[in-house]
Amino acid sequence: MPSARSRALIAAKADFQHALHRWYRASARPLPWREHPSAYKTVVSEFMLQQTQVKTVLPYFARWLAELPDFAALAAAPEARVLKLWEGLGYYSRARNLHRLAQAVVALPALPRTPAEWLELPGVGPYTAAAITSIAFGQPAACVDGNVVRILARLTADPTPFRDSASAAKAFTELATELLLPSAPGNHNQAMMELGATVCLRQSPLCLTCPVRTFCAAARAGEPEAYPRLAARQIEQRAVARVWCRQGDSLLLHRTPAGARRLADLHELPLASHIGFDPAASSAAPLARKRRAITRFQITETIHAAPAPRKLPSAELVWVPLARLDAITLSGPHRRWVAELLQ
Ligand code: ADE
Repeated sequence: MPSARSRALIAAKADFQHALHRWYRASARPLPWREHPSAYKTVVSEFMLQQTQVKTVLPYFARWLAELPDFAALAAAPEARVLKLWEGLGYYSRARNLHRLAQAVVALPALPRTPAEWLELPGVGPYTAAAITSIAFGQPAACVDGNVVRILARLTADPTPFRDSASAAKAFTELATELLLPSAPGNHNQAMMELGATVCLRQSPLCLTCPVRTFCAAARAGEPEAYPRLAARQIEQRAVARVWCRQGDSLLLHRTPAGARRLADLHELPLASHIGFDPAASSAAPLARKRRAITRFQITETIHAAPAPRKLPSAELVWVPLARLDAITLSGPHRRWVAELLQ
């Protein structure tokens, strides 16, 4: 049941759409997937932009398009090449899903056009299906992610406490769909994304320059940052001990098996437990202590110098010649740490 503020916004939707689209035409960043758009560029950019900011994606997108210019080239590429091009972007299942998606798409007689059809493909959830089909095929599907939730919760000063961002996205889908401009759904979705990324910021939103400020109940009340009401994320602390093991000009690395859910086929420094090394029994100070965040985990990784095992206890452990390090795929943080420790 829409709130009174949602109904007021829907009643003013023609003016809202006009203000949003005029602003977008004048202010949109010239992003490479927006110039000469194609379904392929849209799909690749949407996969890269899942959980990753535009400025991080830009160089990856350029390299990817230069090397794998269309679905056929991507479908035919070896997985190791696909992962190497993704190296450093994180959440590697996106790369594997994108690869499988291309293989599925080239086997079809034509590109699917509806959100329901795209939802059947690997790695495509409701947001990505709406983004791809609205931008590439003009389908009237509204994108609802954290940015859009923030905008809509503020426009309507919605006081609902949401358990998490997925339930908030579900709750705002109806309103987002009502507000969608049917003659230009792709631009409408991108205008909302742009507004969330550049104006309706999580902290210190730029309300004075906001094109839809006059429609915003939270701005009128002077408390935009109070919305959306999302339960604070529970952060869990984790500690991980790793080893730095050298033998001549080779470094010991752990390669996650191909079928693993996370990091499949990627190399990282081995865990101490992989080689039966007990850091507590060592009197030497660790070589490095690093912090990283993965989803809701705050992880402290301690890297210890350890003697080379005489026999490798599993096939997942590999000696990699230093000269080959550039050719293999390391996870982003491990690439940086290895470079640092080799200096
Ligand atoms: N985030 C997700 N999709 C996007 C797009 N097409 N443009 C800018 N940011 C985005």
